[in-house]
Amino acid sequence: MNKKMLIAAFPEVSDIGKRIAMALKIEFTEIETRDFPDGEYKIKFKKSPNNKIVVIINSITKDPDERIVETILAEGIARDYKAKKVILVATYLPYMRQDTHFVHYDSFSAKHILEVFAGFDRIIVIDPHLHRIKSMHSLSPKAESITVDGVIANYIKKNFRGNFEIIGPDSESEQWSAKIAQMLHKKVHILNKTRFGDNKIKQKNVSLNKSKNYIVIDDIISTGHTLIGALKMAKEQGAKKLVCIGIHGLLIGNANKMIKEYASLLTTNTIPGKYAKIDVSPAIVERLRKEL
Ligand code: R5P
Repeated sequence: MNKKMLIAAFPEVSDIGKRIAMALKIEFTEIETRDFPDGEYKIKFKKSPNNKIVVIINSITKDPDERIVETILAEGIARDYKAKKVILVATYLPYMRQDTHFVHYDSFSAKHILEVFAGFDRIIVIDPHLHRIKSMHSLSPKAESITVDGVIANYIKKNFRGNFEIIGPDSESEQWSAKIAQMLHKKVHILNKTRFGDNKIKQKNVSLNKSKNYIVIDDIISTGHTLIGALKMAKEQGAKKLVCIGIHGLLIGNANKMIKEYASLLTTNTIPGKYAKIDVSPAIVERLRKEL
């Protein structure tokens, strides 16, 4: 076993952490978390960070503000106990969709959230929502993104045969849907979406082929309305089988129920849950190999 690197994963993503440690033949520890009666956290490592590259893995999603605090506390432990380098792998990083000041005096959270993690030497984020801003590096010199588009393309290749095309439900999804379609040599249809509020969107129709199956790919599935718009349009045009694949399945409220009325649903495990069937650990392994 190589003792140069220690994977320290929060409980929700400990499966991912274990798979990474096994693939790289390095040490693994699950970070222990417990609440004090007043709601504060107590965080503990079960292995020593001393003189190691410590990789802290967290999915900063359910109750994101609390996940942020526990992540900062974990970084503090690694520093105090003399880690050589402390790397954050955020399988999901929240606050990325507010990527400008949309109106006067509102928060540009994509920029400021990275300042919170300034104690890390490196911040690696899986497919952050980059739209107006094209790279994590321009938000913070310590930050970078890795993509799981190859992992998704492989999954589709293994599990879906034949007669399907890809749909990107809005222009922001093009960076994933078009890339995955290209990897699979499939046609892609990118929809034009206008958002009128958190729960109200409208997409312009594109013309689809009646005899085909469609896989709709988006980065984030939040309320599900973006996908529902695309699915309704595809159904109205006589599409056969429909499948939705999301990288990050936030699946707020009854998003999954709404989607399942039209399509089968799959996500990656950047946010663990019932639909998280596509494992992203190979993409993280590939990136961490460069640190060893
Ligand atoms: C937006 O630009 C993202 O790519 C997703 O399409 C969006 O976050 C999905 O949100 P919802 O599921 O609430 O429509």
